[in-house]
Amino acid sequence: MHLLSGDSTPAAAPLVDRFGRQVNYVRFSVTDRCDFRCVYCMSERMTFLPRARVLTLEELAALGRAFVELGVRKIRITGGEPLVRRNVLWLLRELGRLREHGLTELVLTTNGSQLERMAADLRDAGVARLNISLDSLDPARFQRITRVGRLDAVLRGIRAAQAAGFQRLKLNAVILKNRNHDEVVDLARFAIDNGLDISFIEEMPLGVIGDHDRAEAYYSSDAIRADLERVFALTPTTENTGGPSRYYRVAGVDSRIGFISPHSHNFCGDCNRVRVSVEGRLLLCLGQEHSVDLRHILRAYPGDRERLKRAIVAAMAIKPRGHDFRLGGQPVILRHMNHTGG
Ligand code: GTP
Ligand code: 5AD
Ligand code: SF4
Repeated sequence: MHLLSGDSTPAAAPLVDRFGRQVNYVRFSVTDRCDFRCVYCMSERMTFLPRARVLTLEELAALGRAFVELGVRKIRITGGEPLVRRNVLWLLRELGRLREHGLTELVLTTNGSQLERMAADLRDAGVARLNISLDSLDPARFQRITRVGRLDAVLRGIRAAQAAGFQRLKLNAVILKNRNHDEVVDLARFAIDNGLDISFIEEMPLGVIGDHDRAEAYYSSDAIRADLERVFALTPTTENTGGPSRYYRVAGVDSRIGFISPHSHNFCGDCNRVRVSVEGRLLLCLGQEHSVDLRHILRAYPGDRERLKRAIVAAMAIKPRGHDFRLGGQPVILRHMNHTGG
């Protein structure tokens, strides 16, 4: 299916890697800060970057324009928690304007803590879809997993997003054995009862987190699916949101139940995305360190969009085939998830 690396056929789209994969989805981490400290994402004590090392909102807007001119159709804003970045709405409005240049989806992933106050503004700014993290419906357990988060604020945020008119809200639940694996049926039922989609995620080993042994906490998507199938009849679909989730349907309900399975069902062969870290590193794969310093180009050559675009196109040559995640021992990738937003 993929072009061979030696194939001389010129690519119709500029962002095509050595394996013939077309990149049309980019994820921007707009802050490493977060008001939660989820145990799979961060260590308890984190130091955050000084402001000078973080891309400015203007730099992010310029990057968005460059990517869209190169054929990117979907931009996802992530963090840390993107909604704690001051003036993020300005950036979203700027990126929303890129629809005139070919962007079809501006989307955002959030922990939900700020949605109650921001959902309506996000919708006005042109955000099309929200993915909201929710790992437990039990307040005490929710607090253990997020270390500091409050479940009631997130539930109010979900309701605010629905009231603001967001369609196809998706919950993300990272499932850890002996922490929340026994809640998958309740989480699926909550999604179904509230007309939401949900993705169950296998934890990825990024950064030293100090909370648990990731091999010991592994709970596979197949195990989750077996647990769900004791209660729901799941039918696989080919529906695709452009991300890594494999979706199933439950007869008679609108919700989709998805699985993101980096360990058990590798999806790297279909990868269509790259990400920009909070420091402006263009990361060609979440699970590898191959990267290009776009911040340097933005700051050394301000306004030179063509140079930026050339660097992005050239980076396609170093996009790796996929990740090499291993669950035992120390993580190979030392950067935490809050630098890349997943
Ligand atoms: P949709 O647009 O709704 O499909 O969202 P998405 O799944 O692309 O994005 P989201 O931010 O909700 O991410 C859900 C999970 O998928 C997170 O745990 C991400 O880390 C993970 N994820 C997204 N893209 C990749 C990827 O390229 N590789 C790996 N290993 N995980 C990814
Ligand atoms: N493994 C898998 N998913 C993770 N997320 C954060 N850290 C990890 C990890 N180590 C998820 C969050 C959020 C999404 C962007 O990534 O729960 O929903
Ligand atoms: Fe914050 Fe998201 Fe990381 Fe949780 S997963 S600590 S909500 S950035």
